[in-house]
Amino acid sequence: MNSCEKVEDLHISVLLDELIWAIKVHPDKKNIIVDCTLGLAGHACKMIEKMNPGDTFIGFDADENNLKLAKERIEKSNKNKIEVILIHSNFLNLKEWLLKHWISSVTGVYYDLWLSSVHIDNPTRWFSFQNDGPLDMRFDKRSWITAAEIVNSYHKDDLEKIFSQYWEEPSSRKVAERIALRRKEEKFTTTKDLADLIWEVSKYPKSKTRIFQALRIEVNSELKNLEISLHDAIELLEIWGNIFVISFHSLEDRIVKQKFKRESKDCICRDIICSCGHEKSLKILTKKPILPTEEEQKQNSRSRSAKARHAKKI
Ligand SMILES: C[S@@+](CC[C@H](N)C(=O)[O-])C[C@H]1O[C@@H](n2cnc3c(N)ncnc32)[C@H](O)[C@@H]1O
Repeated sequence: MNSCEKVEDLHISVLLDELIWAIKVHPDKKNIIVDCTLGLAGHACKMIEKMNPGDTFIGFDADENNLKLAKERIEKSNKNKIEVILIHSNFLNLKEWLLKHWISSVTGVYYDLWLSSVHIDNPTRWFSFQNDGPLDMRFDKRSWITAAEIVNSYHKDDLEKIFSQYWEEPSSRKVAERIALRRKEEKFTTTKDLADLIWEVSKYPKSKTRIFQALRIEVNSELKNLEISLHDAIELLEIWGNIFVISFHSLEDRIVKQKFKRESKDCICRDIICSCGHEKSLKILTKKPILPTEEEQKQNSRSRSAKARHAKKI
């Protein structure tokens, strides 16, 4: 960020009014609201504005840099002096962290998945092939595997599976084979190394985007972590508490949709006489996902693939 840029100009929050409307703040009881993907605190600042003195807001981000920027922005806008707890952690550890703060239930929780515009636009973050730099892609520099380690060590069949399962990228097999050949001579270290190789195999511009995104999803275990965290978030919600999830990829949306569906049913086995004992815990409030309006899509092209789902604990 250069000194003239303001934090709020670095990322435009998606479905802002919809999320703020969905996560209810009660005037006559203590609200505890969790933002699992704080980013640059666009949603968080609006949420904090709506909260009352005595309430608690908790924000998670795996990216230390974004967390710092968010902290700066929240400090300026917390006029109601809400208690704010910011946690540098993957939302996978949601439950563990809340327990460390003696919190065993919350009144609202939300996710705004994927990455922030800073990750894409900042030339020193290297999440995209447009900026040359280390082939890393970790949101959290403390996590154990980088994109380079995956590309240099995974079996070519596994690489193919990653590229094709996340994006059904048609050149997956060829790219995986070429990676396996090339790394015998020289390891991949930079985003350019990989981008150039993909370009040699496929001149379809989307191939580079898809393969880079698939790798990022793998590096950060994004789908598995979402599944686990959603489960914990629903468990932590108080009765009538709201959960709202914005996703940007069909596989993420499918995880949210299936989890909400499962938790909104009294029985999940197919036996004539139920043997699973599963009890519903959610009421789905969005039969179809909420999409950004045309106006929002025009103002922020990155909002185009967003889908949000909202449910309430019962
Ligand atoms: C789309 S941005 C959030 C933007 C934010 N809602 C705003 O309005 O400014 C997503 C953020 O989630 C973070 N993130 C992604 N996956 C995460 C995870 N598993 N745990 C914690 N943070 C994560 C990213 O580092 C990024 O800062």
